Amino acid sequence: MKAASVIDYRELARARLPRFLFEYIDGGSYAEVTLRRNIADLEQVALRQRVLRDVSTIDLSTRLFGQELAMPVALAPIGLAGMNARRGERQAVRAAEKASIPFTLSTVSACALAEVAEAAAKPFWFQLYMIRDRGFMKDLLAEAAALGCPTLMFTVDMPVPGSRYRDYRSGLAGAPGLRGAVRRTLQAMMRPRWAWDVGIHGRPHALGNVAPVLGPNTGLEDFFAWMRNNFEPNVGWHDIEWIRSQWSGSIVIKGILDADDAHLAAEAGADGIVVSNHGGRQLDGTLSSARALPPIADRLGGRMTILADGGIRSGLDVVRMLALGADGVLLGRAWAYALAAGGEKAITHMLDLVRAEMNVAMALTGTIRIADIDRSIVHDLGTPDLGAA
Ligand code: GLV
Repeated sequence: MKAASVIDYRELARARLPRFLFEYIDGGSYAEVTLRRNIADLEQVALRQRVLRDVSTIDLSTRLFGQELAMPVALAPIGLAGMNARRGERQAVRAAEKASIPFTLSTVSACALAEVAEAAAKPFWFQLYMIRDRGFMKDLLAEAAALGCPTLMFTVDMPVPGSRYRDYRSGLAGAPGLRGAVRRTLQAMMRPRWAWDVGIHGRPHALGNVAPVLGPNTGLEDFFAWMRNNFEPNVGWHDIEWIRSQWSGSIVIKGILDADDAHLAAEAGADGIVVSNHGGRQLDGTLSSARALPPIADRLGGRMTILADGGIRSGLDVVRMLALGADGVLLGRAWAYALAAGGEKAITHMLDLVRAEMNVAMALTGTIRIADIDRSIVHDLGTPDLGAA
């Protein structure tokens, strides 16, 4: 199948990846209510079609955190995504560069900061969790800064990891030691292309940034144990000050879903937020990002940059999120699926599709610049706006 959409890339990824990896990126927490809402609520946002306007020159470029971007899109941080293709984050950073958009490296990536930097020609963004070992955090921040990362995405919606049933069913979680390894190996054997590309030639299979504290023999089975044991559950707003003392670049707080928290993020001096429920992977039953976003944008009133993620499966969805109040979006699963399906080339193609879809959505809403996209092009939010402002 030749992919014509992000949804097609999802199917290609399903066919290419061992089950434990597909379920990891595709799944959400508990009953996956939020995961479904993210997609469904965004889909229901009806845009106002406008015609007979001059849309001969549509400009998707924008500026986020002082950086010129070809479109208001960045690749989201995704744990383990580098396992979806050989040294995957190296491929993703190159695709992002080619598209002139930022790539965000996850703390729990397969490739370490230095390895990604070696593949990249330009600086990329870095994502960090609050980790118990402050010395380790300090070192990671210093390394990211030394490599020129201009923007830090500080993820705050994972003081404890949510339970993802699919990971237990697939054997990625809850199956330590030999039993889990055997299950994953059997799944990998059913996907010979992946087994050859990544299983054999894509080593080491470790969490590159975390390996120094976990020791050299870290495998995937240590992933969840490390997250459970090392994430800092008593993180508070004062910790933003500590981060600020360690980081002179932009700070973006990822995982805001409430207008009060958005206000507190602005008070704490963040440069931006990501309106996010972690792709429906943490607290199940939250508002979708699409519904959480408008009251947050209203409350902030332009005080800081707003990014949003969750449920974006097309360029049309990007335009919808911008119309609801975002200055830019993060694409998460979209790039992980494409990476699995065809590496760097497929991510480039997926981003081409998103760009083309944005062009059409803008042409038919009569918007020719990103700054033209606002609530005035939204006809109907689709669902009653229950967001507490
Ligand atoms: C990590 O951020 C995850 O969602 O698994």
